Amino acid sequence: MTDDTAGEFDPATALDLSDRVAVVTGGTRGIGRAIALGLANAGADVVPTSRTAADVDDAVAAVESRGVDSLACPTDVTDTDDVTALMATVRAELGGPDVVVNNAGVNPDGALGPPEATTEDAEEFVLDVNLRGALRCARAAAESLHASDGGSLINVASVGGVVGLPRQHPYVASKHGLVGATRSMALDWAPEVRVNAVAPGYVLTDLTADIEGNERLVESIRDRTPLGRFADPAEVAGPVVFLASDAASYVTGACLAVDGGWTAR
Ligand SMILES: NC(=O)c1ccc[n+]([C@@H]2O[C@H](COP(=O)([O-])OP(=O)(O)OC[C@H]3O[C@@H](n4cnc5c(N)ncnc54)[C@H](OP(=O)(O)O)[C@@H]3O)[C@@H](O)[C@H]2O)c1
Repeated sequence: MTDDTAGEFDPATALDLSDRVAVVTGGTRGIGRAIALGLANAGADVVPTSRTAADVDDAVAAVESRGVDSLACPTDVTDTDDVTALMATVRAELGGPDVVVNNAGVNPDGALGPPEATTEDAEEFVLDVNLRGALRCARAAAESLHASDGGSLINVASVGGVVGLPRQHPYVASKHGLVGATRSMALDWAPEVRVNAVAPGYVLTDLTADIEGNERLVESIRDRTPLGRFADPAEVAGPVVFLASDAASYVTGACLAVDGGWTAR
């Protein structure tokens, strides 16, 4: 007789993160905050961090209100000492981290426009936060991720990591780099640590505040998106919780589109 329960999928246990500790960079606002709260709701202890101490305190309080542990450790992902101290503090205070979500990202005005109009400083800044910041965090957390039974690194890329977008080549370069690094790190760190990316489409946050004021652009994005709308930040959190969890135990090196069908065209 076949034992149906031997390999049976049980969402209640597979999505339960109550034995994990997670770090979310840029976890104080927008998509990162939604990810931090989603991971906390799945039972993980979560450390949401960013450069702004007051925002970190606020996000930590929101995480703790979900009944899990957290700690406030403001961190600039462009500063190697900061990142090293973050991972060491998490390890000493909470254990882990078992899960690291590289979500901090920027796309400043100086990096917008055709290539001849952007500055080298702006390009450097975008690459340093979006790409090198993620690599710094991966390096600093490598030992803890490998020591975990459920080590999972998740990079928040973008549709701009999969296709070109006009007038923002530094951002697109940083996100293509992040998707490439995701694939390479997945090879290097298998089988101990799974490494994946999500590629969100358009989500209304501080990062995209300029879009909100431009009704024509809002309409064209809606028209171009098969699901016909922008995403709520929580709709990015769900796929990240999945990738962090045992429900994704055979998923590594993937870049999961969370874009309402944008890149399916
Ligand atoms: N919104 C979208 O439509 C969209 C689409 C695709 C992908 N994404 C990606 O999703 C991620 C989150 O975007 P979002 O829209 O939620 O942006 P957001 O609302 O502007 O939030 C960005 C977060 O990153 C933090 N941050 C920025 N620079 C940092 C640094 N050097 N070190 C540490 N933290 C830093 C910010 O806090 P502080 O400024 O206080 O440090 C904030 O917590 C980004 O990687 C973005 O590229 C967004």
